[in-house]
Amino acid sequence: MNIAVSMSRQLPPPAELFRPDRTRSRIHLEAVPNAMDDQPGHSPATEAACIDNNVAATAILFGPFRLLPAQRLLLEGNEPVRIGSRALEVLIALVEHHGELLSKNALMERVWPDTTVVEANLSVHIAALRRALRDGRDGNRYLVNMPGRGYRFVAQITAVEDSEPSTPIEESATKPLHNLPKLLAPLIGRDDNISELTEQLPQWRLLTITGPGGIGKSAVALALAEKQIGAYQDGVWLIDLAPLADPREVPRAVAAALGLKIRSEQPMPDLLTALKNKRMLLVLDNCTRVIEWAATFTTEVLRAAPGVKILATSREPLRAEAEHIHRLSPLKGPSTSGRLAAADALGFPAVQLFVERMAASLGEFELKDTDALIVADICQKLDGLPLAIEFAAARAAILGVRGVAARAEYPFELLVGGHRTAPARQQTMYATLEWSYGLLNELEQSILRRLSFFGSSFTLQTAATLADDIGRAESEIINTVLGLVAKSLVMADVKGPVPRLWLLETTRAYARIKVSKSGECDTFPRRQAKHSVRTSHISSLALA
Ligand SMILES: Nc1ncnc2c1ncn2[C@@H]1O[C@H](COP(=O)(O)OP(=O)(O)OP(=O)(O)O)[C@@H](O)[C@H]1O
Ligand SMILES: [Mg+2]
Repeated sequence: MNIAVSMSRQLPPPAELFRPDRTRSRIHLEAVPNAMDDQPGHSPATEAACIDNNVAATAILFGPFRLLPAQRLLLEGNEPVRIGSRALEVLIALVEHHGELLSKNALMERVWPDTTVVEANLSVHIAALRRALRDGRDGNRYLVNMPGRGYRFVAQITAVEDSEPSTPIEESATKPLHNLPKLLAPLIGRDDNISELTEQLPQWRLLTITGPGGIGKSAVALALAEKQIGAYQDGVWLIDLAPLADPREVPRAVAAALGLKIRSEQPMPDLLTALKNKRMLLVLDNCTRVIEWAATFTTEVLRAAPGVKILATSREPLRAEAEHIHRLSPLKGPSTSGRLAAADALGFPAVQLFVERMAASLGEFELKDTDALIVADICQKLDGLPLAIEFAAARAAILGVRGVAARAEYPFELLVGGHRTAPARQQTMYATLEWSYGLLNELEQSILRRLSFFGSSFTLQTAATLADDIGRAESEIINTVLGLVAKSLVMADVKGPVPRLWLLETTRAYARIKVSKSGECDTFPRRQAKHSVRTSHISSLALA
């Protein structure tokens, strides 16, 4: 039965309707008079329609789109729309308050419940959402910006019972054999990674893409997974583990993505039975926060289901059996010494990304020869990290390229907020690093803070000199530094005779902020004090 309801009157309380589908609540929709009510066999208009959220979720239709809030999924036709989880959360919040003005603060609290961010973050995701919906094009109008106040979702919407089968694995013949979002635009500068991995993937059972936060692990994994559609009899299934508050939810999240209805309190045995004879690729995206559970899950699945392969992304390796690790490098940028023409700068993916994102924000943008070196310099200071570059481009759309450069002598501005007068708001890269830092133990945190005072690169032996300051054995310091390398917080080049280590500038700036906040500047040894001028600068920014 399809139940068309007018959203303004008939939707259940938002918290009910938009609750993730693992809840066991029942949603009550009251149908309203509409054309279908006259059809034979259709229930009277006033009858309360009852939808068991475990059997059928509610879908919201607008334009050519179908939003499944419980599954955190947006479809166009039968194809998932490629849209980031934050942009999707913005959409769900706006649809939930359909027709009402939703303030920017309310949206930011909803989308970043645990982090304080500046408004530019929201603008980035609103812009991405508009791109995904093609808002404003061909007469489509979904979101309206009320300048200085917030946003309103204005398109007509209809809520219907979503008739997805509860076991799509079994009924897959009639279904698309994947749940990957549609790629909106090709990735920049990752063709080599993707073709290398595409070629090698058949040899591996478990491939983990690792690297620092924001380097593009998920982006590459999705592009790689997209190339695998059709290669696995039972499909390619994406499971985003980032939103999991409880790591024990990993098996249930996988079951939900596969559409498996598992009633037992211990889902793993049922899941392993369901997977046993399948030939499929599971994409376990963003494992970092649930790394140990993801590793255990992976090991059990690979043992029980010989036809299943796993592609994982995480800031650190899973350290599970049969793991092959692919460490992602930053996007390449041009040298910043000497002259640089725009055409040459645009030959590098870091600059391409910056320019493309500026054009997306402004409608059009052309890199001038006079700005090429400045943009190259910004990309270099941001270590070629796509997330940081995207954020810088969003700010450049407001401040201009030179405006950002003038404020970006170091990448701190992108970490701690653009305005000294602003409240303690932080930016995306700060939140990104905070996520990793929060997972470190005290010794790891302490060593990372101290390493931020080392030169541009250092050896393990130099790092071991921290042993006296910290009062630990050299071997313990070395092991901890190696652990930080595994967690992508310290970079390493092991090609030469002596491995060289260094911190990305964004990581260094973040660690210095932590130093200033912990008041350790004064206690650090004299040999590190020469860096304190920079530290006090950061400190003032951090505490602004
Ligand atoms: N090669 C690329 N071309 C265009 N955009 C990219 C590219 N790589 C990453 N991005 C964009 O950069 C942002 C960060 O990428 P992504 O989410 O993949 O990072 P991540 O390494 O998975 O981070 P995390 O460790 O936080 O999960 C996203 O908005 C993504 O679309
Ligand atoms: Mg990711």
